[in-house]
Amino acid sequence: MVNLPTARQTTRETMEDTQTQAATARPAAPTDSTPADAVMRVEGLNVYYGDFLAVKDVTLRFARHEITALIGPSGCGKSTVLRSLNRMNDLIPSARVEGAVFFNDQDIYDPDVDPVEVRRRVGMVFQKPNPFPKSIYENVAWGARINGFKGKRGELDDLVERALRQAALWDEVKDKLHESGYSLSGGQQQRLCIARALAPNPEVLLMDEPASALDPIATLRIEELMLSLKEQYTIIIVTHNMQQAGRVSDRTAFFSVEVDERGQRTGKLVEFDLTDKLFTQPAMKETEDYITGRFG
Ligand SMILES: Nc1ncnc2c1ncn2[C@@H]1O[C@H](COP(=O)(O)OP(=O)(O)OP(=O)(O)O)[C@@H](O)[C@H]1O
Ligand SMILES: [Mg+2]
Repeated sequence: MVNLPTARQTTRETMEDTQTQAATARPAAPTDSTPADAVMRVEGLNVYYGDFLAVKDVTLRFARHEITALIGPSGCGKSTVLRSLNRMNDLIPSARVEGAVFFNDQDIYDPDVDPVEVRRRVGMVFQKPNPFPKSIYENVAWGARINGFKGKRGELDDLVERALRQAALWDEVKDKLHESGYSLSGGQQQRLCIARALAPNPEVLLMDEPASALDPIATLRIEELMLSLKEQYTIIIVTHNMQQAGRVSDRTAFFSVEVDERGQRTGKLVEFDLTDKLFTQPAMKETEDYITGRFG
């Protein structure tokens, strides 16, 4: 079994430093069209479900400490691509992946790589908040325990508090940590799921439409949270909401669906660029039609 390489030190001190900085400043938008420092790279990715080619030939780079949005019409393969980034597709028996996905230059589909380790380092938050039927505390502690956490109770308390603070939920739950996760509002439940995903100390956070089940205020809170988290993590988000992609992401990948003569629908990457550029001067007509609402 190989160890996945790391590109940063994850001490509590650096986490606290970055949290303080995150509260005060939003970093300048990037200007380089091709990110030099990519935490993840996808090369020639094809994903099949059985014989069905769902998405083809995707090549993309995900820049470290940035937010990348995946957008496009329903069925174009956004969730499929996202799941391939932490081997979540392994859990779907018919799914098969071709091509390579590199995490800090290690191909995560290499037979020597442990998929559980991949999912710890590349965490995931889903569309519908899915807390476990356990207390708020236990939901977050679970993330640490599956990661083999063997510290003392006090250390686990600290870890739970840190993850809940990072997910901007601590103040709302600190006096009821032992109540059920289900007792929280939808937006709070989603932040609890974010805290659970952060507890194992991942480098990358994948989010599949994390705010689509939430009201506008809870949505804005999640967006603010994402902006503060990118100081420490790399975030890849699928969203149907183009305003949201425009508000939070540094770069955007636009996917669409190609229909062949037999009526087979295959997702493909149309354009990938800085969000500001893609939304104001798209290179491809298909992108322009989509962002101006003429399609999709
Ligand atoms: N588990 C599965 N088994 C078989 N086919 C699947 C499975 N999941 C997705 N697909 C198919 O793969 C294609 C891409 O689906 P995917 O869910 O990735 O699209 P999406 O862009 O996330 O769509 P949406 O915006 O509706 O969530 C679709 O044709 C879909 O029907
Ligand atoms: Mg989807």
